[in-house]
Amino acid sequence: MTTIALLPGDGVGPEVTKQAKIALEAIARKYGHDFRFVRAAIGGDAIDTCGVPLPDATLDLCRNADAIMLGAVGGPKWEEMPVPLRPEQGLLALRRQLGLFANIRPVMAPTIPWLLSPLRPEILAGTDIVFVRELTGGIYFGEKKLEPVAGCARGGERATDSATYTTDEIASVVRVAARLALERRGLVTSVDKANVLETSRLWRKVATAVIRDEFPCVQLEHRLVDSFSMDIILRPSTFDVVVTENMFGDILTDEASVLAGSIGMLASASLGHPGIDGRRPGMYEPIHGSAPNIAGCDVANPAGAILSAAMLLRYSLGLHDEAACIEAAVETVYGSGYVTPDLAQPDQPAFHTSDVGQAVARAIADADLCASAAQFERLNLGCRSDEPSRTTARRPRRATMD
Ligand code: IPM
Ligand code: MG
Repeated sequence: MTTIALLPGDGVGPEVTKQAKIALEAIARKYGHDFRFVRAAIGGDAIDTCGVPLPDATLDLCRNADAIMLGAVGGPKWEEMPVPLRPEQGLLALRRQLGLFANIRPVMAPTIPWLLSPLRPEILAGTDIVFVRELTGGIYFGEKKLEPVAGCARGGERATDSATYTTDEIASVVRVAARLALERRGLVTSVDKANVLETSRLWRKVATAVIRDEFPCVQLEHRLVDSFSMDIILRPSTFDVVVTENMFGDILTDEASVLAGSIGMLASASLGHPGIDGRRPGMYEPIHGSAPNIAGCDVANPAGAILSAAMLLRYSLGLHDEAACIEAAVETVYGSGYVTPDLAQPDQPAFHTSDVGQAVARAIADADLCASAAQFERLNLGCRSDEPSRTTARRPRRATMD
């Protein structure tokens, strides 16, 4: 039996993880797996129910589970709380405690023609990028201080956040990026701010040495984060694997989500080093956050969470066919025009989170995935009958991370 820790969290987190669970249950039925889901609290949900953002019981469950599925944390309700009692602290502590140092965020331009990104099609064509964001170091985890400024009459304060990286931290995440590149187009773009930051100069030095000594077949390019943030929009198809530090990765992946049409489409996997038992900790979450403005409205795009479930199958359970089945089902359903409001074009109907999730589960159950669009019409789920399915059969490549 496979135990999956389910951490819905806050805002839209419960709505989208529910759909990811439904997709995984459909996979279990179709392929004969036994998935046991154990729910636990994190973030604001945990503050409300247990008084802390990462209860011991949640951490224990996550340590012992085969994989972790997380929704989102945070929201206005907890914004004024003291720092240790903020929802985000629960997520950061969980990443750190489990050593989830590599955060993999694939970004692909939609293969579905009508899912228009604000960018021109000729700019988007061929875009297929994997971001590898360092997740347990840098300014997120460095020393933090808030102190009074001596002699300042009006109660002035000084705030400090230090950014620190070690050679080992950089080398580990660069290796993950290089292994991914070996199975893709063989290019790693390392993004830093080496013209200003000491951490970036070390980052550049270590990345150069790791690729030169361990991955001679991989091509490495260094880019400064400011000009890279422009090129990711101007020339997205020229990038393959992008590796960068924690905060740059947080910002750049939200920016890059525009390429996919909606931040609601982006999934992620956070991976650690394999333990002595050979098991590698893995946590899977959509990158969109808690979106409190639409929480509870059943309109959040569940694709990021459902595609995170596919990454869970691939990276934590080694179930590649099952992962590809989820990805194909999402593509079929979204290609049939069955989408939430963030993706619906003005002349198109928009559907609820739960309806889209159910449609994906039906597409998974369908042995002939290509026939799913027609089947939705038979099932009267609201697809437009005048439009032929325009999905393409592109499936993400398999990737190993060890
Ligand atoms: C993300 C989020 C988190 C981060 C927040 C919620 C702490 O923005 O996963 O991208 O900054 O890492
Ligand atoms: Mg973020």
